[in-house]
Amino acid sequence: MRRDYSEVVGRVRAVCAGEDDAVALMATVACELYHAFDDFDWVGFYRVTEPDLLKIGPYQGGHGCLAIPFARGVCGAAAREERTQVVADVEAFPGHIACAASTRSEIVVPVFDGKGVLVAVLDVDSDRPAAFDAHDASALEALMAAVFGGRTGGDAIAVRPQGPTGEGRRPYTGSG
Ligand code: SME
Repeated sequence: MRRDYSEVVGRVRAVCAGEDDAVALMATVACELYHAFDDFDWVGFYRVTEPDLLKIGPYQGGHGCLAIPFARGVCGAAAREERTQVVADVEAFPGHIACAASTRSEIVVPVFDGKGVLVAVLDVDSDRPAAFDAHDASALEALMAAVFGGRTGGDAIAVRPQGPTGEGRRPYTGSG
């Protein structure tokens, strides 16, 4: 079922208005999203701290791993490609980094600053298989752009796993 983001987006916009500290914004977004939906079991940010490296930022949920190179995992793919990754089955994603054995699916959205520079990725994990779709991608990208002042991830999301001929990659239409 399509999630209704309107309430959480309204709350985040109101609470974050006038704030420009990245950590304050990330902590607030992680908290609000985590508590908004029952099947958001881990919500957090990985920050770009040096070329090709992500380090853990504010999060809610169980222990998250501290560092993720761009070359690894779903977060790394989102950072490398600067494109939202929707993974229906984490076990079918080569190189997925399992922080919690209960995670079944996830979405990772790139976060850009006002200059269009990638500063972080937002990672949302669910214990439910195939919990995310293009509607979540669209809503979360719009929220990241609103909060951090940057662009969205572009006009395509990557839907994983991707088949050998590229099927599984769907044009991003912004609708579910
Ligand atoms: N989702 C990740 C790892 C980070 S944890 O799940 C918090 C990945 O494979 O990129």
